[in-house]
Parts: sequence; C-alpha cells; structure tokens
Amino acid sequence: MTTPGATPSPEESPGRPAFPGDRAPAPLAATAFAAPTRVGASYDDAADVELVDVTKRFGRFVAVEHMNVSIARGAFYSLLGPSGCGKTTTLRMIAGFEQPSEGEVLIAGQPVAGVPAYRRNVNTVFQHYALFPHMDVARNVGYGLRQRGITGDDERRRVDEALALVRLGGLGGRHTWELSGGQQQRVALARALVNRPTVLLLDEPLGALDLKLRKEMQLELKALQHQVGITFVYVTHDQEEAITMSDVVVVMRDGHIQQQGSPRDLYERPVNRFVAGFLGLSNFFSGRLADHEPATGAASVSLGDGTIIRGRLTDPAARPSAGAEVTVAVRPERLSIARADGGAAAPLEHTTRLTGRVQQATYLGEQNEYRVETELGELIARRQNNEASGALPGVGPGDAVVVGWEDDANLVLVA
Ligand SMILES: Nc1ncnc2c1ncn2[C@@H]1O[C@H](COP(=O)(O)OP(=O)(O)OP(=O)(O)O)[C@@H](O)[C@H]1O
Ligand SMILES: [Mg+2]
Repeated sequence: MTTPGATPSPEESPGRPAFPGDRAPAPLAATAFAAPTRVGASYDDAADVELVDVTKRFGRFVAVEHMNVSIARGAFYSLLGPSGCGKTTTLRMIAGFEQPSEGEVLIAGQPVAGVPAYRRNVNTVFQHYALFPHMDVARNVGYGLRQRGITGDDERRRVDEALALVRLGGLGGRHTWELSGGQQQRVALARALVNRPTVLLLDEPLGALDLKLRKEMQLELKALQHQVGITFVYVTHDQEEAITMSDVVVVMRDGHIQQQGSPRDLYERPVNRFVAGFLGLSNFFSGRLADHEPATGAASVSLGDGTIIRGRLTDPAARPSAGAEVTVAVRPERLSIARADGGAAAPLEHTTRLTGRVQQATYLGEQNEYRVETELGELIARRQNNEASGALPGVGPGDAVVVGWEDDANLVLVA
C-alpha cells in the first residue's frame, strides 16, 4: 500500500482551487471549502492534468500507448474500460508512482517528469483504502498533515473540516473497525482531501461497497466534488458509475483511448462498436455502406438480406468508402413494441418495422425487456413500466409482436 503522501504546502501549489480555510484562523464549517466561482457542472478551461502522447511499457508489454488527455480544472473525469486496459497505470503515472516510457505528464501546466509522488499536489484514494488500524479516525485523517509538520490545533481544525466534509463530524475518536464500510471509505476520502490537493485520483474507490451503498456514495462523491471544486480523476470499469458521475468519460481498451466526451456524447454517439457495447446495451446489425454524405454524416447501410437502413455515421472523422463493412447500432429503448394483433400504440408508422416472436420477457423494475426473434435476428426492446407508455401486460414468450423504430435511432459505426 502507498501511504497518503505528504503534499507541498498550499503556498507551493498555485494550481489548486482556493480554500478560504487556508487563511482563516477560526475553525471553519465544511462550506468554507466551497470554491466560489463554480456554478453547476461548469469547470475551468485551464487544464489541471495533461497527458501528452504518453506511452507506458513494462518490458516489451505496452500497457498504455500514445495517450493524449487534457483534464480541465474542476472537472470530474473518468477513465472507463475493461480489466487490464491501462486505467490504473494511467493514474499511477499522474500520481508519480510510475514514469511514462515516452511522452509527458503535466500538472497545473507544469511538466512533472522527475517530480516524486510526494511532491506532486495530487492525492490518491485506492480501491483498497487500507486505513491505519492502530490510529483512530482523526489520526488517520491527519496523517498527511503531520507528515508535513502541521500538528496541534491546526491539525485538529483541518481534520474536523475534512470529517465534516464527508459527513463524519464527531466520529474522529472512533476506531476504524467501529465504522461501516461506507464510513471507512469516507475516512479514506477525508484523509486525501485534508491535504487539499489540486487533483484527487480515485482508483475504483467504491469497489468494495455493496450496490446500495455504492449508489449513495456515488451521489455523495459527486456532490463533494462540486463543493470542493477539486479536479477528480476517477477510475472505474462500471459504465453506469462513469455515466452518472462524470463531466467527461474516457473509454479505454488495450491501452488506447477509444473515445472521450460527455456521458451523453458517448451514449448517443459512440464512435465504434466497442464503445457502443461497453456503454449500455445495443442491437447490432452488420452491413455494408451503400451511401454516405460526409457533410452531414447521413448514411445508408445495406444489410445482408437487401434491407436498407438509413442513419448517421457517429464518427465525424471517419471517411469510409462505399461498400465498407459497417455496423448499425440501435438502443433498446428506441424500439417500440406492440402486439401483432393490434392493440395499444402499434408502431405501424415507424420507418423500420419487423414482425417477430417474443423469446423472453423480463421484468426489470422500472422497465420491461423483451427479446424478440425477427428476420434480422434477436432484437432487444425495453419499455418503460408505466401507463403512459402503454405497458404490454401479459405479453410473454411465443407471442407475435411488431417491433419498429425511426431512422434517427440508427447509429452507423465504422469500426
Ligand atoms: N508493474 C507491471 N509490470 C508488468 N505489467 C504490468 C504492470 N502493471 C500493470 N501491468 C499490465 O498492464 C496492463 C494494464 O494494467 P492496469 O493495472 O493499468 O489495468 P486496469 O485497467 O487498471 O485494470 P483493472 O480494471 O483490472 O484494475 C495489464 O495487462 C497489466 O497486467
Ligand atoms: Mg486497475
């Protein structure tokens, strides 16, 4: 385990947001951390962390290759991707626990090559947050301060502020084993925040928590990040977590960035099949590009059986030639479904319309999911479970249905 490092004093760190508490002698409420200029999800244009063409090799193995990232000050930035894609390696290079084989890392505009981890104004919260068992909560949180010679009343005041920030005010005297998992996680956060870093790096920090607690902590973390205005670089392999928390998500695969953008960009305009499949569920159709208008992205795709599907190319940089193999992705919630024998809200007006038989109907709580066998293969449709959207009560395996959707649901992917 790496101990929460001592970081330079606030005076040495021009890039970090203002903490009014730095100068105020009296104990401060948690709100004193609020960065006054932040409104909603807005963040500064200045980059707090930049990776410029960074490659990391372990021996002959390339863990991260030609990575370019610019993380705006105050942004909630997530690195998302499957196990082994290079997320932790990227974080460790920012933290200073690994050096890039090529390329450059900048923090607050300054190259940090050769700057050891404890001199970077960055703190890391690890998945296995490993609190010190022989110290109570307050001593755990104050660890980084004592390393920097901040003790006594100053330490106590800053620890109290940090604990209030993570809603653990008054629990400083507890032993760590007297806390729940979520509370322990918050102690780990307070221990990192107390150092007032420019950037907080979080490596799957909620991985050890059960689903309900995880959801609560997601909202808390997001609210906390708004409150303190610190740049968060957050590693997760959970797409839902990345979507709900982030301003910007970077999707990685095998050490390469696949796409970066807002959660909405990634969900609604995934540039390739990997991103479309990693974020949310999709129906995929393979075909060949019949026609493509580069100016607008409008594209026609010929499926194997001669069906023509019209949609949009999602990758504005792609210049596929006619006849290129492409994939059409359609999100399940864009599909309408109705009983074939008529009834409520039949999707008869839709541009694409297929008849089929339900293979499986699954109750998902707020939605119902239908898997329907059609001439284009098995399709997944999801319907909101409420009166207004016209639920399909009693529809189950074997029932004949009509499935349809509009052209604007067709995402044409070139890779
Ligand atoms: N010190 C090392 N020596 C050799 N290979 C390493 C080292 N650290 C990481 N790797 C390899 O680099 C790749 C990326 O590892 P990394 O830990 O960054 O993945 P990750 O995206 O964080 O995955 P996970 O979601 O499983 O934590 C993996 O294949 C891993 O085995
Ligand atoms: Mg990892």
